[in-house]
Amino acid sequence: MKKPLPKPLRHLAVIMDGNGRWAERRGLSRIEGHRAGAEAVRRTVEGCRELGITYLTLYAFSDENWQRPAEEVKQLMHLLRQFLRRRRQDLHKHRIRLLTIGDLSRLPKATRDDLSAAVEESREYENGVLVLALSYGSRQEIVRAARRFAHEVAEGRAAPEDLTTENFAHHLDTVGIPDPDLIIRTSGEMRLSNFLLWQASYAELWFTETLWPDFGQEELRKAVADFQGRERRYGRRG
Ligand code: FPP
Repeated sequence: MKKPLPKPLRHLAVIMDGNGRWAERRGLSRIEGHRAGAEAVRRTVEGCRELGITYLTLYAFSDENWQRPAEEVKQLMHLLRQFLRRRRQDLHKHRIRLLTIGDLSRLPKATRDDLSAAVEESREYENGVLVLALSYGSRQEIVRAARRFAHEVAEGRAAPEDLTTENFAHHLDTVGIPDPDLIIRTSGEMRLSNFLLWQASYAELWFTETLWPDFGQEELRKAVADFQGRERRYGRRG
């Protein structure tokens, strides 16, 4: 059994940034940076398991990333399928459930098929949850949720007055997933970039200059230790 952290950290979310710059600094192609980024994903999943963090959400491909050159998008999709193939055994061995958030309908069919197979295969696993945000944008997610609720009203299954913050959250892609306690962004950028805007209302934020491919367990521990020292007041007095 893992020793529980003094301050509960159930859900860590990460904006993995800096793959391109990491590659550029080494005279490598951007895809090499993404490949090294996939290794950092493996280390982070392992680190979360060791620290007893149950949910890990990774911003793997944003809605805005569709605007990148077609070749880079293709390579990222390929890398994702490779990751699913290579990490399947780990997820199985450690009984980690895979979930996705985002508009998967835009992904190539082969990627979607591999994802749904991996999600289905892991649906009973209860040791941890890895959430991949793919083709994800928070504003788009909120609009999708609003549409779902509007349909319920149009079909007479709900009244406008029924809408509360709690049941609105049930229409989001993240239904069933607790809000993130801590959000990490790498590479020195200090913004949320359309990531979990609703869910991040009370999340603690932690930024590092480290580029994502260099992110490792030591730095994860540093972020978690910092989180342990924060006072979370949720708008109340300390
Ligand atoms: C941001 O770096 C990163 C991405 C757009 C993709 C993230 C993908 C991975 C870490 C690898 C694959 C993921 C999985 C789950 C297998 P950037 O390209 O924006 O870097 P830059 O800002 O330095 O250009």
